[in-house]
Amino acid sequence: MGRKIELGRRYRFAASHRLHTDQLSEEENARIFGKCANPYGHGHNYVLEISVSGDVDPATGMIANLADLDSFVEREVIEVFDCRSLNEDVAAFRETVPTTENLCIEIFERLKSFPKAKLERVRVQETTNNSFEYAGT
Ligand code: NI
Repeated sequence: MGRKIELGRRYRFAASHRLHTDQLSEEENARIFGKCANPYGHGHNYVLEISVSGDVDPATGMIANLADLDSFVEREVIEVFDCRSLNEDVAAFRETVPTTENLCIEIFERLKSFPKAKLERVRVQETTNNSFEYAGT
């Protein structure tokens, strides 16, 4: 029987967003989202932490090769989000407000098919004072 280990890895990307929904009036958007609803958006330096788990391969001593994980995250998340407008450039946020809660869910959905280990958790830090976590349920 293998020994289950959890591996954490941190990534960074910068993106802009505007918190706004067409389902509410301009007044309601302004009341709920405050300055985050400003029309031209604003940026964040997001820190993404992901945790994957798996059995230690007795031959390599690893649960997954970091290079495999990095290239997967790079392709599925960093290339898609980095230096982008989440509202304008990411299809998932055309209709959905790009809060960091929803960003966590979108990133989890993009990464859960990583073939070499099980995705346990995604954590996105939006500012030094707030972060969000999603474990897929
Ligand atoms: Ni923001």
